[in-house]
Amino acid sequence: MAEFTHLPVMAREVVELLAPVPPGLIVDCTLGGGGHAGLLLDARPDCKLLGIDRDAFALTAAKEHLARFGDRVAFVHQEFGQLRDAVQQYAVRQHAVGRQTVGQRQETVVAVFMDLGVSSPQLDHAERGFSYRYDVALDMRMDSRQSLTAATVVNEYEESELASLIARYGEERFARRVAHAIVVARPVATTGELATIITNAIPAATRRTGGHPAKRTFQAIRMEVNRELPNLADGLDESVHLLGPGGRVLVMAYHSLEDRMVKQRMREWSDDGRSDHAVAKLPIVHARQPLMKLVTRKALRPQPDELVMNPRSESVRLRVAEKLVS
Ligand SMILES: C[S@@+](CC[C@H](N)C(=O)[O-])C[C@H]1O[C@@H](n2cnc3c(N)ncnc32)[C@H](O)[C@@H]1O
Repeated sequence: MAEFTHLPVMAREVVELLAPVPPGLIVDCTLGGGGHAGLLLDARPDCKLLGIDRDAFALTAAKEHLARFGDRVAFVHQEFGQLRDAVQQYAVRQHAVGRQTVGQRQETVVAVFMDLGVSSPQLDHAERGFSYRYDVALDMRMDSRQSLTAATVVNEYEESELASLIARYGEERFARRVAHAIVVARPVATTGELATIITNAIPAATRRTGGHPAKRTFQAIRMEVNRELPNLADGLDESVHLLGPGGRVLVMAYHSLEDRMVKQRMREWSDDGRSDHAVAKLPIVHARQPLMKLVTRKALRPQPDELVMNPRSESVRLRVAEKLVS
């Protein structure tokens, strides 16, 4: 098996921010190679951990890395969009192996952790087709069981659909030119061909600034193939109902659209309606009961020493909210 090398981002902060949660079940929605999971299991001997990932390669690596924790850790191969279903599967399995008896209360979920985006091995293993640095078949699936691949998006989407996803997910100024160039060049078979088409579609002066010219379009196609934003919306919506009192949601986002979604959700959960009344200069008639309180008012960023050691942490934004006693 190829090696899984991924440095856990903001590891110190993650462990510290999850230290106050009560004993129970930590759900790591983006297990990867289990870097954060191992640190959390070491730091919290009173907790178990359910690791979810839709990438079979990541799960295999995590099982090896976390083997020393025995039955304190369990694994589910699934999208975290269906979080409740994953936790349900875990509970059924616990029951089947006799670790939970009928009528016994299911373990309380005390933390939902998301370290979004791709892992280093997903980018670095050429055959996965995530990177413009290699010339391989267009793929980009985190879960190789799904049928939608980058080849379908690149060769079958309408030009307008392609332009809009490149503009939205890639924040590419020249999205329409890039989409048109792709459509004219069809069929496109490999990541190398795609990178050349994109590069040639971008004006020469812009090509020399802001990293590889294909970077933004590749990111956009990856986010479409893996339905990254819709999954995040579903996962966040489910997390708030799964958590017990004092439990925390901790999310690390690397893309501005993802971070905006996390920020908005956390604001909604913690809103008691007072701010609407203050804006409208109205007396507070019915204050709502907020579901959560914000632990981080502003997103946390990595310390300078981490940025030097791990440049991939550069764009991360970490936010945390805590479930209130209802
Ligand atoms: C940044 S890596 C996580 C690395 C991990 N925290 C560690 O320390 O090793 C993100 C992982 O989340 C997985 N992932 C991303 N979106 C997912 C989703 N919607 N459902 C399940 N897994 C997902 C990816 O396959 C990848 O392995």
